[in-house]
Amino acid sequence: MTDIPEIVPLGTLPPLGVIPKKMYAQVVRPEKFGEPKDAFKLEEIQVPEIGDDEVLVAVMAAGVNYNNVWAALGYPVDVIAARNKKGEPEKFHIGGSDASGIVYKVGKDVSNLKVGEEVVIHCGMWDRNDPWVKAGKDPMFANSQIIYGYESNWGSFAQFTKVQAHQCLPKPKHLNWEQSAAYMLVAATAYRMLHHWKPNDVKKDDVVLIWGGSGGLGTMAIQIVKAAGGIPIAVVSSEDKKEICMKLGAAGVINRNNFKHWGAITSDINKPEVFASWTKGAREFGKAIWDIAGKGKNPQIVFEHPGESTVPTSLFVCETGGMVVICAGTTGFNATMDLRYLWMRQKRFQGSHFANDDNCRDLNQLVIQKKVDPALSRTFKFEETGLSHQLMKENKHPHGNMSILVGAPSLNMGIS
Ligand SMILES: NC(=O)c1ccc[n+]([C@@H]2O[C@H](COP(=O)([O-])OP(=O)(O)OC[C@H]3O[C@@H](n4cnc5c(N)ncnc54)[C@H](OP(=O)(O)O)[C@@H]3O)[C@@H](O)[C@H]2O)c1
Repeated sequence: MTDIPEIVPLGTLPPLGVIPKKMYAQVVRPEKFGEPKDAFKLEEIQVPEIGDDEVLVAVMAAGVNYNNVWAALGYPVDVIAARNKKGEPEKFHIGGSDASGIVYKVGKDVSNLKVGEEVVIHCGMWDRNDPWVKAGKDPMFANSQIIYGYESNWGSFAQFTKVQAHQCLPKPKHLNWEQSAAYMLVAATAYRMLHHWKPNDVKKDDVVLIWGGSGGLGTMAIQIVKAAGGIPIAVVSSEDKKEICMKLGAAGVINRNNFKHWGAITSDINKPEVFASWTKGAREFGKAIWDIAGKGKNPQIVFEHPGESTVPTSLFVCETGGMVVICAGTTGFNATMDLRYLWMRQKRFQGSHFANDDNCRDLNQLVIQKKVDPALSRTFKFEETGLSHQLMKENKHPHGNMSILVGAPSLNMGIS
């Protein structure tokens, strides 16, 4: 019989199916809330027990996402206090909502996975006994729905992670561990935004305006639109970001720094001179879209996530009967719009949040078919978890998506 190790060194794995007592984890505690570079701390933590519908995965690599910038800040939600209120005892947060790894243990009700399978993990969690879920309805609307590694503890910034079995999907064979860990959260979110909200799902020859084209969501959205035969037009804030957007399939790229009308609109918009000045700026931006798509071709879908700063323009440039679909408010939550464009042009303003199992499976197929590349730009060491999130907070991170090595050997490092 194999002895149970106390803990194994980072970058190594115990024999398949052997679970050490402890694991290394990058831990956030309330007393450390603040700048991400200081909030994450390497600790030894007891490996968690799993439930009947759960699996324990040895993490090979973890993906970096904006949600753990928020978790580190303790703002706008203190995720630890929120879980403590629900009865979870841990006074710490192990974040990480993307992972690639190897299944090490399965709960007694799990029939779709075996120890040793190589998987990628999606971050949609819900209670299988939730009446909404049991009724077969979209679990992303269920009261019990949470985001793994943000609203849940035991995320992927640790040697072992605890997930529900349905979160595991086959790891694409042509990708290495760090590429495999980089895409799921942003790509599945982008997939739902672009394909789920019928009849406004992306179709052949549709123009789609994509904010933050070189970012995590944006790099995925460009490729998903392209795969559907649409015309992706990306927006960025500097000339050097244009190249990656074009490489991924953008029909053209707009530099938002060439325009000045950004920000929330105020009630002053009711004054004719203020309205005229604002619409002048928004029209100039719309003309930049026409310069790429052709005169009069407005976006059928505007792919939104900056929020406060851009929503008024997104709604303005959206085609009649089209949709602004939004999953975040990175620049602020006070979204404003001139309602006349909403009702007169019968546009749709649609919220969207992560993805259900079907969305994730369909997206993973696009990756397996090599139609969507993870756009991995940089792989960090485990001890650089805080740094990677700090760069993201300051919008100084490299283009595309980032990964952190956990159990994977350091051989593949230094991609940047
Ligand atoms: N609800 C969900 O399910 C979900 C899922 C994934 C992500 N999110 C959220 O979505 C947001 C973006 O995530 P991400 O991973 O794509 O982050 P990211 O890689 O940092 O990309 C965000 C992009 O936003 C652009 N941006 C920044 N300030 C802007 C401004 N003032 N106006 C217009 N664009 C601006 C930046 O591009 P330029 O500076 O080049 O314009 C940046 O590349 C985050 O808030 C994240 O939490 C939500």
